[in-house]
Amino acid sequence: MRIKGLQLPSARLGLSTPRSVWHHASQNQSTTRAGLSQLQPDPLARPMSEEPTGDDVPADVTMWCRTLSGVPPMPQVGAPLEVRRARVEDAGALAALLGSAFEGETWDAAGVEREVLCDPTVRAILVVAAGTRLVSTASLQVRPEPPGSGWVRWVATDPDRRREGLARAVVIGVLALAAQAGCMDAYLDTRTDRLAAIRLYMQLGFEPLVADGWERASAVSGSHEVPREVWQRVVGALCAQAG
Ligand SMILES: CC(C)(COP(=O)(O)OP(=O)(O)OC[C@H]1O[C@@H](n2cnc3c(N)ncnc32)[C@H](O)[C@@H]1OP(=O)(O)O)[C@@H](O)C(=O)NCCC(=O)NCCS
Repeated sequence: MRIKGLQLPSARLGLSTPRSVWHHASQNQSTTRAGLSQLQPDPLARPMSEEPTGDDVPADVTMWCRTLSGVPPMPQVGAPLEVRRARVEDAGALAALLGSAFEGETWDAAGVEREVLCDPTVRAILVVAAGTRLVSTASLQVRPEPPGSGWVRWVATDPDRRREGLARAVVIGVLALAAQAGCMDAYLDTRTDRLAAIRLYMQLGFEPLVADGWERASAVSGSHEVPREVWQRVVGALCAQAG
């Protein structure tokens, strides 16, 4: 299966110009940039407001940042906020943050301790702390597969502290830590209905991973490559948001 990283219509979406890219050599797979027209919404496609079908169900998707060279400096968060690494004693506060940010998900301290804080593949958990309260977070996971890649995990901001640049700061921090750890590129999983997050990831140079043909098997272990049309609908929704 061929996997393609696609360039999104950043200008049309009001996004900053993506960072320049270089040939992706760390994976044993063919990757190319696709033309803008390949992702622009198809005018003949079914409008998003029609009766829901399987296409309307949010899909798990993977995005890829093909180079970690040139990660920008981490933006300052305003005092009295502090960006730091999470500690085991933060488990309760981190569970509260993740539970408030991810609607419909329940997190508890024991689960956060087991799945996040004590997982040896999770190399760093960055948090923005406001005193004893945690208001934003992102983590770096380095899995055995694919080698040389970092995974950005558990990106979340407290609903009361959104649009303050906190997620941007911690995701940039995680990308910088991934580069320091020797990673050449980075992946993340998200969902097609997480448009705010996808806009942020695109600003930071992440591109969709698209499968040529509808194949559920993945060439990148643990990732979700979906047909081009899935991402075309996401781009359509982002364009509609941008007006
Ligand atoms: C996605 C999320 C982490 C963003 O957190 P945040 O701290 O508010 O994000 P930032 O303030 O750093 O915003 C950075 C960029 O993200 C995009 N963005 C964030 N929130 C947005 C929104 N509500 N609508 C549109 N774009 C948005 C924008 O491009 C923004 O840049 P700008 O403010 O210069 O336009 C937060 O909304 C959240 O926790 N959502 C629920 C959990 C989730 O979806 N996590 C991602 C899992 S993959």
